[in-house]
Amino acid sequence: MNILVTGGAGFIGSHTVIALAEAGFTPIILDDFSNSDRRVLRGLEKILKQQPHCYAENCHSPSVLSRVFREQKIDGVIHFAAFKSVGESMQEPLKYYDNNIGSLIVLLQTMLEHDIPNLIFSSSATVYGQPNVLPVKEDTPEQPVASVYGHTKLIGEEILRDVAAAQKPLKAISLRYFNPIGAHPSAHIGELPLGVPNNLVPFITQTAAGIRPMLTVFGQDYPTPDGTCLRDYIHVMDLAEAHVAAMQYLLKQNGPTIYEVFNVGMGRGVSVLELVKTFEMVSGKPLNHRIGERRPGDVAAVYADVSKIRTQLGWSAKREVEEALRDAWRWQQCLSQH
Ligand code: UFG
Repeated sequence: MNILVTGGAGFIGSHTVIALAEAGFTPIILDDFSNSDRRVLRGLEKILKQQPHCYAENCHSPSVLSRVFREQKIDGVIHFAAFKSVGESMQEPLKYYDNNIGSLIVLLQTMLEHDIPNLIFSSSATVYGQPNVLPVKEDTPEQPVASVYGHTKLIGEEILRDVAAAQKPLKAISLRYFNPIGAHPSAHIGELPLGVPNNLVPFITQTAAGIRPMLTVFGQDYPTPDGTCLRDYIHVMDLAEAHVAAMQYLLKQNGPTIYEVFNVGMGRGVSVLELVKTFEMVSGKPLNHRIGERRPGDVAAVYADVSKIRTQLGWSAKREVEEALRDAWRWQQCLSQH
């Protein structure tokens, strides 16, 4: 079966391409490379032992999507393509609403026109804001979302709910990702942040590699056991496999309209300092770090209740944080050598 992967050259998208191929699907990438690197295709080819099928085009265009749907028999779509920088989204809100919401609408319209019902949407734990109760369940009331990026995820979910409520022939799942980290164990693909990384793990690996002088831990005065923020870090290959489980679930459903939301995480909170210590252990390298000010917009703690995805999709994370950090470090070392 052919699965169209928009944003398939990105971090989570490229790992999902591998997981789909391992599960017997044929992934077809649609990516305009505006925020990804063509080297990803070479990495994918090394792992898959063949070139992945790729349309280097923008999925915001109805004519591009129509052409892809005419040329390929597509059984389902996994929609990753979106802008994802929280900071930039506050500076350029229209760019984010236009791209993230606009492309979802065009995609849905074109899928319905071509009788393709199955869609997995990339959502985010950001829709929870700072939840009052932890771990967060899918029906935990959403708190105010801190960024335009977060709004685009929340609005995307609402669009899907509304289309399904109107009884359109749509079978859709939103996956709310917690914090994806790590890389493929082959080190042929991994995270490729442009410029200075915003996220913790690429910052850690670049510091260990000597590219950055020091990691700043953003705040040690949070109401958490060691004062640093708690997050639910999940290996990107586990997250990739959750997409496969979600697609397999949709393909088995007979009803014309389905809409479901699932958390995807490990189900436990790990602090920034614990992550630093674990990295030092797996890499055997002390990490130069200091405690700094809080980063505006950060929530103190968020981690997932993963019972719904375990029960309904039969998926749970298999890889520990140690393994994710080892894979991220191996990937960074490969990058540094080239
Ligand atoms: N952190 C540091 N130093 C750094 C970078 C991060 O201490 O240099 C800390 C942050 O303060 C936070 C933790 O590491 O406590 C994780 O930060 P990330 O930036 O890696 O991840 P976030 O939880 O902030 O962001 C993630 C996703 C976003 C999403 C956001 C909100 O990457 O896409 O969750 O749910 F919007």
